[in-house]
Amino acid sequence: MIKVLFVCLGNICRSPMAEFVFKDIVEKRGLSNNFIIDSAATSTEEIGNTMHIGTRKKLEEKGIDYAEHRARQIKKEDYQNYDYIIGMETSNINNIIRIVGEDKDKKIYRLLDFTKNPKDIADPWYTGNFDITYEEIQKGCEAFLDYCIQRKKLK
Ligand code: 4NP
Repeated sequence: MIKVLFVCLGNICRSPMAEFVFKDIVEKRGLSNNFIIDSAATSTEEIGNTMHIGTRKKLEEKGIDYAEHRARQIKKEDYQNYDYIIGMETSNINNIIRIVGEDKDKKIYRLLDFTKNPKDIADPWYTGNFDITYEEIQKGCEAFLDYCIQRKKLK
């Protein structure tokens, strides 16, 4: 089982989008049984809140199923409980380390570092652009799955 936690600042825009996009990709490839997939925030700002309307609309537009989601903050124990903790931008990585401690097992990654175009995913909470967010998250999730398939010999 590969346990994956996507992380952003608020856990209402990018990381839940990544959670449901990745769930959709692995479902379509018949690989759901190999994964546990969740998402969390680094901040306390949005704890208990549902996904941003922009994220929900984008998932609906793309025909991607999503479940009830409530924002939660990443906790120190999550470091032991997950194999991959994947932030959306460099500031997420710094904040994750601040909460969970040193990345001694090399579990913490930035999503687009799995792609040929490594960079931060801008925060649509500020940019208002959920189209770019979706395109980048989709590419990042596909690349991350390819990485998992190569490493774990999934089919
Ligand atoms: P997210 O976007 O990190 O992609 O979920 C944000 C949502 C809310 C806030 C910041 C970023 N906020 O400060 O409330």
